[in-house]
Amino acid sequence: MNKLAFPILAVLADGKFHSGEDLAQRFGVTRATVYNAIQSAEQLGIKVFSVRGRGYRLPKPLTLLDADQITQACGEYAPWFHVQVLAQVDSTNRYLMQESARGIAHATCVAAHMQTAGRGRRGRSWHSQLGGSLTFSLLWRFQCGAAGLSGLSLVVGLALVRALHTMGLTSVRLKWPNDLLVLQAGSWHKLGGILIELQGDMEGPSAAVIGIGLNLELEADLQQQIDQAAMGLNQLSGAPVDPNHLLGHCLNQLAQHLSLFAEHGFVYFQPEWTAYHAFEQQAVNLLLANGQSVPGRVVGVAEEGSLLVETAAGIQRFNAGEISVRSAS
Ligand code: BTN
Repeated sequence: MNKLAFPILAVLADGKFHSGEDLAQRFGVTRATVYNAIQSAEQLGIKVFSVRGRGYRLPKPLTLLDADQITQACGEYAPWFHVQVLAQVDSTNRYLMQESARGIAHATCVAAHMQTAGRGRRGRSWHSQLGGSLTFSLLWRFQCGAAGLSGLSLVVGLALVRALHTMGLTSVRLKWPNDLLVLQAGSWHKLGGILIELQGDMEGPSAAVIGIGLNLELEADLQQQIDQAAMGLNQLSGAPVDPNHLLGHCLNQLAQHLSLFAEHGFVYFQPEWTAYHAFEQQAVNLLLANGQSVPGRVVGVAEEGSLLVETAAGIQRFNAGEISVRSAS
């Protein structure tokens, strides 16, 4: 995106018309330069209305991310975090993995208004739009090695459920290992997901880049790119959710949960995690990476976070796979 595009979008964030002339004057450029900047934003899928005689306007007002507001919303944990906001990046996970290798501080959080190559789990892409989702990554350094981090992604999911509950969104549940779901009109919809990438030795120390994508508002064209039922938090709450507030609440809960995890491991959270599992005691098929589908009934999560499924061959533990619900018959 053109360098001027984001500063212009920040002006248009109020949802009002701004003439090309005013924008040109404000940034000390020509109207043609403003036009080109807006074109470059539109090429990234950002809708900007252009009306002759009135100027440019976004379809609706936009709350932009702001590092100070995010830090303030972390409450008592604010001093722990280093928050950075990027206008645009390919992937906050990729960016933070690179910065982590260069020694960036523990508890650095990088949030982006736009990701052009967001990464999802299992090699999928994570699609997002300006203002339509909250996309961020958090670097957390651990004394132990990667081998001691089993169950970490489940704990992160639990922290997010807690954060959403503190914001009044109490119907949010988890899908093993770490999707956030809500039941709407009889079917489960995905609200967000987590992708954790690790650095370091098996023996330690290690660093986790915890990438989180939360849907705020899913436009119809974005919904079409997603291969499962999904929903935005704005729709769930019935009012626009302030992304700065939301991110601050997430970081607050992550600080608490990650500290307890470093001390006690997943076992400390096992009962609470199970209580929030959308598919506890449900008949499912577990889809494995090799294409195999294992039918069974979910009977909990183990003390290190693996999924326990009662199958024809007895209770089995799974460390990877995707749950697909099947009818009880
Ligand atoms: C999933 O597949 O459910 C996990 C999605 C994780 C997406 C987030 S968005 C912020 C961070 N940066 C990325 O590239 N991916 C994660």
